[in-house]
Amino acid sequence: MSAATAMIIGASSALSQALAAQLSAQNVSLVLFVNDPEAIQPFSLSLPGEVSIYPLTIDQPHTLIAQLNQAWEKHNGAHLVIVNTGVNEYDPALPWSIDQHTIDVNVMGFAAASQCIFKLMCQQGYGQLAAINSIAGQRGGPNVAYHASKAFAANYLQGLSMHAQRLKLPVTISDIQLGLFDKAVHLNTKLLLSPIDNVAEQILTALKKGKRRVYVTKRWRIVAWINRILPEYIYNTRHWKPRKKRG
Ligand SMILES: NC(=O)c1ccc[n+]([C@@H]2O[C@H](COP(=O)([O-])OP(=O)(O)OC[C@H]3O[C@@H](n4cnc5c(N)ncnc54)[C@H](OP(=O)(O)O)[C@@H]3O)[C@@H](O)[C@H]2O)c1
Repeated sequence: MSAATAMIIGASSALSQALAAQLSAQNVSLVLFVNDPEAIQPFSLSLPGEVSIYPLTIDQPHTLIAQLNQAWEKHNGAHLVIVNTGVNEYDPALPWSIDQHTIDVNVMGFAAASQCIFKLMCQQGYGQLAAINSIAGQRGGPNVAYHASKAFAANYLQGLSMHAQRLKLPVTISDIQLGLFDKAVHLNTKLLLSPIDNVAEQILTALKKGKRRVYVTKRWRIVAWINRILPEYIYNTRHWKPRKKRG
């Protein structure tokens, strides 16, 4: 029999799958929500423990809430729910379609999923809700809606945590402030880039400790702090003059 049940919302991402593999190896039964349930079948068959898969319609809040409620009832709740959905697109021409999509998924979908799970955990009387967030939310940035959506997520999670305290319920809200891995890949810097399994391991260790907010990997706490204190004319690298090409 499984030790616990964990739900992962947005299970097709590489990080979600690393988390799922580690949880499954620890005898945690998994409930995975994905855009395309068929595509994740081969991965789910590779896991040692129990796995159930459900469709996810993150940009339609009413459908999403119904999907989460149904799975919650069927599995008799969950100990841990990890929300790991998100989009991040960039176009310097700032087309509205990018902002609209980002707001639909990262703000509306995120809030609908988090609020629904929080209320279900309150009814259950316990639980841990964790969201994979980003240090991008600490300050505005060129992917305008993306940065703003991550600030929204941090603020929203804090609000839910305050409600858990008001209700005096053992419902933990964990904000996982992830570093900018794609940026680290672009910069090709081993200093900031960590293998995805280490990232997943650090996240699960922090969750076991019931952390309210954690930087993953740890070194990104320093980058986040520097980003916050830099004067805008230095922070805004787009303000810098491009280097002249040699030759
Ligand atoms: N990658 C990074 O460098 C980085 C850094 C810091 C923070 N983060 C955060 O980590 C989280 C996940 O990012 P990631 O890089 O792992 O991205 P990813 O691989 O693209 O995963 C995003 C997840 O969201 C789901 N999703 C997106 N739009 C959807 C929709 N309309 N309907 C249903 N599902 C949808 C994706 O499902 P499908 O693939 O099936 O569409 C996928 O499971 C985000 O919150 C992001 O802000 C990432």
